[in-house]
Amino acid sequence: MSEKNTKQPTIRVLATGGTIVGMAGSATRHEYLPGQIGIDDWLGRVAEFGLPAQMLGTQIANIGSEDIGPAVWTALHGAILEAMTDDAVDGIVITHGTDTAEETAFLLDLTLPARKPIVIVGAMRPADAVGSDGMRNFVNAVRVASDPGASGRGVLLVMGDRVLAARDARKVRTRGTDDAFRGFPRGSIGLVTPAALEWFGNPWREGEDARYAYPTAMPEVPILYIGAGMTAELVDRILPANPSGIVVAGVGEGNMPNAVRERLIEHRKNGLIVVRASRVDEGLVDREPEDDPNGFIAARALNPQKSRVLLMVLIASGIADAASIQKAFDQP
Ligand code: SIN
Repeated sequence: MSEKNTKQPTIRVLATGGTIVGMAGSATRHEYLPGQIGIDDWLGRVAEFGLPAQMLGTQIANIGSEDIGPAVWTALHGAILEAMTDDAVDGIVITHGTDTAEETAFLLDLTLPARKPIVIVGAMRPADAVGSDGMRNFVNAVRVASDPGASGRGVLLVMGDRVLAARDARKVRTRGTDDAFRGFPRGSIGLVTPAALEWFGNPWREGEDARYAYPTAMPEVPILYIGAGMTAELVDRILPANPSGIVVAGVGEGNMPNAVRERLIEHRKNGLIVVRASRVDEGLVDREPEDDPNGFIAARALNPQKSRVLLMVLIASGIADAASIQKAFDQP
């Protein structure tokens, strides 16, 4: 190994599937299958670009991200912890479908120390499509994971040239490569250019341990999506047998019909934790005066799917009082 090679960062690449390794069988076909290219094949293709990094691949799964859940999360979490304690590894890249990348990113962000760069990356077009964005995104992700300045910022998501923090990242397009993800409330916290990697602001979690223990069992937390005229019966139908929490994707600032609110208040008396989020794309859901007597939590900047992830982690950690839960939702 040359001296130059020994100075290159070593990146552990954990592959889970998605469109980034999807194939359509034609450069222009609409339909395609996610998770078709294995990690060794993928890293072989990457090698053509001569990136200044050593890449070690691990295949965790090779599936569409709609099927990612506790089993893959647990395998990923364990593999990342192993890479974090391995002195030979400088950074970690996770390839992932974009559909649920924000949920995986946020779960890992909550349950891992912020000591090495951890970057999730996906693509909107399969690997054989015209204008495929996968390789560009991946190369950018490796550049971010190779930068010591990326640590202390929690888990990051790279799409296009933008770097987003896990807590902020949201998928905002069903198809198409332009601005498929956005950050809220923070926009991009970094930008990859051909010449440089620019960070906007300082790391905010430097040296921080995991905020929460990784759950040994994930509670089932449904999301109740509110529509005009919805009745209270749906609340009962959507709740699992022993419900511990529910996220309401409310209208506007987390609002819901009176009948639904009254039914949730009844369940609240039996210990159900109720989080009010919003079905609106962006904006804060702040606490309302009636949240105190109702015992409800305001999701603040988290969308319903991220609220669900945080609530699952909090419940699994045994955090059940409304004030502590609200504090976790308030945290940047
Ligand atoms: C998926 O999430 O696995 C499919 C969609 C994508 O990766 O963009």
